[in-house]
Amino acid sequence: MTPAIIITGASRGIGAATAIMAAEQGYGVCVNYRSDRDAAHRVVESIVEEGGNAVPVSADVSQQEEVAALFDASEAALGPTSALVNNAGILELQSQFKNIDAKRFRRVLETNVMGTFNCLQEAIRRMSLSQGGSGGAIVNVSSVAARTGSPYEYVDYAASKAAVDTMTAGVAREVAPDGIRVNIVRPGFIYTDMHADGGEPERVDRLASGIPLQRGGQPEEVATAILWLLSDKSRYAVGASLDVTGGV
Ligand SMILES: NC(=O)c1ccc[n+]([C@@H]2O[C@H](COP(=O)([O-])OP(=O)(O)OC[C@H]3O[C@@H](n4cnc5c(N)ncnc54)[C@H](OP(=O)(O)O)[C@@H]3O)[C@@H](O)[C@H]2O)c1
Repeated sequence: MTPAIIITGASRGIGAATAIMAAEQGYGVCVNYRSDRDAAHRVVESIVEEGGNAVPVSADVSQQEEVAALFDASEAALGPTSALVNNAGILELQSQFKNIDAKRFRRVLETNVMGTFNCLQEAIRRMSLSQGGSGGAIVNVSSVAARTGSPYEYVDYAASKAAVDTMTAGVAREVAPDGIRVNIVRPGFIYTDMHADGGEPERVDRLASGIPLQRGGQPEEVATAILWLLSDKSRYAVGASLDVTGGV
Protein backbone atom coordinates (compact mmCIF):
# COMPACT_ATOMS: atom_id res chain seq x y z
CA MET A 1 0.00 0.00 0.00
CA THR A 2 1.27 3.52 -0.80
CA PRO A 3 1.93 5.79 2.20
CA ALA A 4 -0.93 8.16 2.98
CA ILE A 5 -0.49 11.85 3.71
CA ILE A 6 -3.00 14.39 5.02
CA ILE A 7 -2.33 17.98 3.95
CA THR A 8 -4.54 20.59 5.58
CA GLY A 9 -5.49 23.62 3.48
CA ALA A 10 -4.48 21.84 0.27
CA SER A 11 -7.01 23.42 -2.07
CA ARG A 12 -4.77 26.37 -2.89
CA GLY A 13 -1.28 27.86 -2.55
CA ILE A 14 1.45 26.02 -0.66
CA GLY A 15 -0.86 23.18 0.37
CA ALA A 16 -1.95 22.49 -3.22
CA ALA A 17 1.67 22.52 -4.45
CA THR A 18 2.62 20.12 -1.64
CA ALA A 19 -0.29 17.81 -2.50
CA ILE A 20 0.71 17.60 -6.16
CA MET A 21 4.39 17.02 -5.34
CA ALA A 22 3.53 14.43 -2.67
CA ALA A 23 1.49 12.48 -5.22
CA GLU A 24 4.41 12.61 -7.65
CA GLN A 25 6.57 11.10 -4.89
CA GLY A 26 4.16 8.20 -4.41
CA TYR A 27 1.92 9.27 -1.53
CA GLY A 28 -1.83 8.79 -1.55
CA VAL A 29 -2.97 12.32 -0.75
CA CYS A 30 -5.85 13.57 1.40
CA VAL A 31 -6.55 17.08 0.08
CA ASN A 32 -8.19 18.90 2.98
CA TYR A 33 -9.95 22.21 2.50
CA ARG A 34 -12.41 24.35 4.44
CA SER A 35 -14.79 25.86 1.88
CA ASP A 36 -13.30 26.09 -1.63
CA ARG A 37 -14.65 22.76 -2.87
CA ASP A 38 -13.99 23.48 -6.55
CA ALA A 39 -10.35 24.31 -5.96
CA ALA A 40 -9.85 21.15 -3.87
CA HIS A 41 -11.49 19.02 -6.56
CA ARG A 42 -9.23 20.60 -9.21
CA VAL A 43 -6.15 19.58 -7.17
CA VAL A 44 -7.46 16.03 -6.86
CA GLU A 45 -8.30 15.85 -10.58
CA SER A 46 -4.83 17.02 -11.57
CA ILE A 47 -3.28 14.33 -9.36
CA VAL A 48 -5.55 11.58 -10.71
CA GLU A 49 -4.91 12.69 -14.33
CA GLU A 50 -1.20 12.08 -13.70
CA GLY A 51 -1.93 8.56 -12.38
CA GLY A 52 -1.82 9.46 -8.67
CA ASN A 53 -4.24 8.76 -5.85
CA ALA A 54 -6.01 11.55 -3.97
CA VAL A 55 -9.22 12.31 -2.14
CA PRO A 56 -10.77 15.68 -1.23
CA VAL A 57 -12.04 16.02 2.35
CA SER A 58 -13.67 19.13 3.73
CA ALA A 59 -13.01 19.90 7.40
CA ASP A 60 -12.48 23.04 9.45
CA VAL A 61 -9.28 22.25 11.35
CA SER A 62 -10.31 24.50 14.23
CA GLN A 63 -13.12 22.04 15.05
CA GLN A 64 -11.88 18.97 16.90
CA GLU A 65 -14.70 16.67 15.78
CA GLU A 66 -14.21 17.69 12.13
CA VAL A 67 -10.53 16.84 12.42
CA ALA A 68 -11.34 13.36 13.76
CA ALA A 69 -13.72 12.89 10.81
CA LEU A 70 -11.00 14.13 8.42
CA PHE A 71 -8.56 11.46 9.64
CA ASP A 72 -11.30 8.79 9.50
CA ALA A 73 -12.20 9.75 5.92
CA SER A 74 -8.57 9.77 4.84
CA GLU A 75 -7.90 6.38 6.40
CA ALA A 76 -11.03 4.88 4.82
CA ALA A 77 -9.88 6.02 1.37
CA LEU A 78 -6.09 5.79 1.59
CA GLY A 79 -5.17 3.60 4.58
CA PRO A 80 -3.29 4.53 7.76
CA THR A 81 -1.84 8.04 7.85
CA SER A 82 1.94 8.10 7.77
CA ALA A 83 2.46 11.82 7.17
CA LEU A 84 0.71 15.08 8.05
CA VAL A 85 1.29 18.64 6.92
CA ASN A 86 -0.32 21.24 9.19
CA ASN A 87 -0.54 23.87 6.48
CA ALA A 88 -4.02 25.45 6.84
CA GLY A 89 -3.62 29.03 7.98
CA ILE A 90 -5.35 32.39 7.81
CA LEU A 91 -4.62 36.06 8.22
CA GLU A 92 -6.90 39.08 8.11
CA LEU A 93 -6.67 42.64 6.79
CA GLN A 94 -3.42 44.50 7.38
CA SER A 95 -3.88 46.60 10.54
CA GLN A 96 -1.91 48.28 13.26
CA PHE A 97 -1.92 46.31 16.50
CA LYS A 98 -4.11 48.92 18.23
CA ASN A 99 -6.88 48.24 15.66
CA ILE A 100 -6.92 44.45 16.03
CA ASP A 101 -9.90 43.46 18.14
CA ALA A 102 -10.10 40.44 20.40
CA LYS A 103 -12.61 38.60 18.20
CA ARG A 104 -10.26 38.75 15.25
CA PHE A 105 -7.29 37.67 17.38
CA ARG A 106 -9.29 34.64 18.53
CA ARG A 107 -10.31 33.74 14.95
CA VAL A 108 -6.68 33.70 13.85
CA LEU A 109 -5.62 31.64 16.87
CA GLU A 110 -8.51 29.19 16.34
CA THR A 111 -7.34 28.17 12.87
CA ASN A 112 -3.59 28.65 13.11
CA VAL A 113 -2.95 27.39 16.64
CA MET A 114 -5.94 25.27 17.65
CA GLY A 115 -6.12 23.80 14.13
CA THR A 116 -2.51 22.69 14.40
CA PHE A 117 -3.12 21.43 17.94
CA ASN A 118 -6.20 19.43 16.89
CA CYS A 119 -4.42 17.77 13.96
CA LEU A 120 -1.30 17.01 16.02
CA GLN A 121 -3.39 15.35 18.71
CA GLU A 122 -5.28 13.23 16.20
CA ALA A 123 -2.16 12.22 14.26
CA ILE A 124 -0.11 11.38 17.34
CA ARG A 125 -2.88 9.23 18.76
CA ARG A 126 -3.00 7.24 15.52
CA MET A 127 0.75 7.13 14.67
CA SER A 128 2.35 6.41 18.07
CA LEU A 129 4.23 3.11 18.21
CA SER A 130 3.18 2.71 21.86
CA GLN A 131 -0.50 2.85 20.84
CA GLY A 132 -0.22 0.32 18.02
CA GLY A 133 0.59 2.82 15.25
CA SER A 134 3.45 2.64 12.77
CA GLY A 135 5.09 6.00 13.46
CA GLY A 136 5.16 8.86 10.99
CA ALA A 137 6.39 12.33 10.08
CA ILE A 138 4.72 15.72 10.53
CA VAL A 139 5.58 19.17 9.24
CA ASN A 140 4.01 22.26 10.77
CA VAL A 141 3.95 25.27 8.47
CA SER A 142 4.94 28.36 10.42
CA SER A 143 6.11 31.71 8.97
CA VAL A 144 8.95 34.16 8.97
CA ALA A 145 6.38 36.34 10.75
CA ALA A 146 7.11 34.36 13.93
CA ARG A 147 10.52 36.12 13.89
CA THR A 148 9.54 39.56 12.61
CA GLY A 149 6.23 40.03 14.47
CA SER A 150 4.63 41.57 11.32
CA PRO A 151 4.31 45.13 12.68
CA TYR A 152 1.60 47.28 11.02
CA GLU A 153 0.27 44.20 9.22
CA TYR A 154 -0.79 41.27 11.38
CA VAL A 155 0.77 40.90 14.82
CA ASP A 156 -2.01 38.42 15.65
CA TYR A 157 -0.93 36.16 12.78
CA ALA A 158 2.74 36.47 13.76
CA ALA A 159 1.92 35.54 17.36
CA SER A 160 -0.04 32.52 16.17
CA LYS A 161 2.94 31.29 14.17
CA ALA A 162 5.28 31.79 17.14
CA ALA A 163 2.89 29.59 19.12
CA VAL A 164 3.15 26.94 16.39
CA ASP A 165 6.96 27.11 16.63
CA THR A 166 7.00 26.67 20.39
CA MET A 167 4.35 23.94 20.36
CA THR A 168 6.46 22.10 17.80
CA ALA A 169 9.64 22.42 19.86
CA GLY A 170 7.96 20.67 22.77
CA VAL A 171 5.83 18.09 21.03
CA ALA A 172 8.66 17.03 18.69
CA ARG A 173 10.78 16.00 21.65
CA GLU A 174 7.88 14.23 23.36
CA VAL A 175 6.88 12.07 20.41
CA ALA A 176 10.26 11.26 18.84
CA PRO A 177 10.65 8.16 21.05
CA ASP A 178 7.22 7.07 19.81
CA GLY A 179 8.40 6.95 16.18
CA ILE A 180 7.05 10.35 15.09
CA ARG A 181 9.26 13.14 13.76
CA VAL A 182 7.83 16.67 13.89
CA ASN A 183 9.56 19.60 12.18
CA ILE A 184 8.78 23.11 10.96
CA VAL A 185 8.98 24.92 7.63
CA ARG A 186 8.88 28.71 7.79
CA PRO A 187 8.02 30.30 4.43
CA GLY A 188 8.84 33.93 3.72
CA PHE A 189 6.98 35.89 1.03
CA ILE A 190 5.35 33.36 -1.30
CA TYR A 191 3.07 34.01 -4.28
CA THR A 192 -0.34 32.76 -3.09
CA ASP A 193 -3.88 34.09 -2.56
CA MET A 194 -3.19 34.70 1.12
CA HIS A 195 -1.89 38.24 0.53
CA ALA A 196 -5.24 39.23 -1.02
CA ASP A 197 -6.88 38.21 2.28
CA GLY A 198 -4.59 40.77 3.93
CA GLY A 199 -5.90 43.40 1.48
CA GLU A 200 -2.79 43.60 -0.71
CA PRO A 201 -2.69 41.01 -3.52
CA GLU A 202 0.58 42.46 -4.87
CA ARG A 203 2.34 42.43 -1.46
CA VAL A 204 5.06 40.00 -2.51
CA ASP A 205 6.08 42.19 -5.47
CA ARG A 206 6.21 45.26 -3.20
CA LEU A 207 8.56 43.50 -0.79
CA ALA A 208 10.69 41.65 -3.36
CA SER A 209 13.52 44.19 -3.56
CA GLY A 210 14.14 43.83 0.19
CA ILE A 211 14.59 40.06 -0.06
CA PRO A 212 18.27 39.04 -0.36
CA LEU A 213 17.41 36.80 -3.34
CA GLN A 214 15.53 39.79 -4.86
CA ARG A 215 12.31 37.87 -5.54
CA GLY A 216 9.31 36.27 -3.89
CA GLY A 217 9.07 32.49 -3.54
CA GLN A 218 6.94 29.98 -5.38
CA PRO A 219 4.69 27.50 -3.53
CA GLU A 220 6.64 24.63 -5.10
CA GLU A 221 9.86 25.89 -3.46
CA VAL A 222 8.18 25.55 -0.05
CA ALA A 223 6.64 22.18 -0.97
CA THR A 224 10.11 20.80 -1.77
CA ALA A 225 11.30 21.67 1.76
CA ILE A 226 8.18 20.19 3.37
CA LEU A 227 8.54 16.91 1.50
CA TRP A 228 12.24 16.68 2.34
CA LEU A 229 11.42 17.03 6.05
CA LEU A 230 8.80 14.29 5.70
CA SER A 231 11.19 11.96 3.88
CA ASP A 232 13.71 9.50 5.23
CA LYS A 233 16.45 11.79 3.88
CA SER A 234 15.89 14.03 6.92
CA ARG A 235 15.57 11.10 9.35
CA TYR A 236 17.82 12.67 12.01
CA ALA A 237 15.96 16.03 12.02
CA VAL A 238 13.64 16.44 15.03
CA GLY A 239 12.13 19.76 16.11
CA ALA A 240 14.08 21.50 13.33
CA SER A 241 12.96 24.70 11.69
CA LEU A 242 13.75 25.25 8.02
CA ASP A 243 13.38 28.83 6.75
CA VAL A 244 12.41 29.08 3.07
CA THR A 245 12.56 32.84 2.72
CA GLY A 246 15.12 33.84 0.10
CA GLY A 247 17.27 35.06 2.96
CA VAL A 248 14.86 37.30 4.89
N1 LIG B 1 1.94 32.80 1.31
C1 LIG B 1 2.91 33.21 2.11
O1 LIG B 1 3.65 34.17 1.79
C2 LIG B 1 3.15 32.52 3.42
C3 LIG B 1 4.25 32.95 4.18
C4 LIG B 1 4.50 32.35 5.39
C5 LIG B 1 3.68 31.33 5.83
N2 LIG B 1 2.63 30.94 5.09
C6 LIG B 1 1.80 29.86 5.64
O2 LIG B 1 1.67 28.82 4.69
C7 LIG B 1 0.40 28.18 4.86
C8 LIG B 1 -0.33 28.16 3.53
O3 LIG B 1 -0.48 29.50 3.11
P1 LIG B 1 -0.94 29.89 1.63
O4 LIG B 1 -0.32 31.19 1.36
O5 LIG B 1 -0.78 28.74 0.72
O6 LIG B 1 -2.50 30.16 1.92
P2 LIG B 1 -3.77 30.30 0.95
O7 LIG B 1 -3.35 30.31 -0.47
O8 LIG B 1 -4.56 31.43 1.49
O9 LIG B 1 -4.55 28.93 1.23
C9 LIG B 1 -5.02 28.67 2.53
C10 LIG B 1 -5.54 27.25 2.59
O10 LIG B 1 -5.93 26.98 3.95
C11 LIG B 1 -7.27 26.51 3.95
N3 LIG B 1 -7.91 26.86 5.22
C12 LIG B 1 -8.05 28.08 5.79
N4 LIG B 1 -8.66 27.97 6.98
C13 LIG B 1 -8.92 26.65 7.16
C14 LIG B 1 -9.53 25.89 8.18
N5 LIG B 1 -10.01 26.47 9.30
N6 LIG B 1 -9.62 24.55 8.03
C15 LIG B 1 -9.14 23.94 6.93
N7 LIG B 1 -8.53 24.60 5.92
C16 LIG B 1 -8.43 25.94 6.05
C17 LIG B 1 -7.92 27.14 2.73
O11 LIG B 1 -9.07 26.38 2.38
P3 LIG B 1 -10.23 27.00 1.41
O12 LIG B 1 -9.60 27.06 0.03
O13 LIG B 1 -11.33 26.04 1.46
O14 LIG B 1 -10.52 28.36 1.92
C18 LIG B 1 -6.76 27.02 1.74
O15 LIG B 1 -6.69 25.71 1.22
C19 LIG B 1 -0.33 28.97 5.96
O16 LIG B 1 -0.17 28.32 7.20
C20 LIG B 1 0.39 30.30 5.96
O17 LIG B 1 0.30 30.94 7.20
C21 LIG B 1 2.33 31.50 3.89
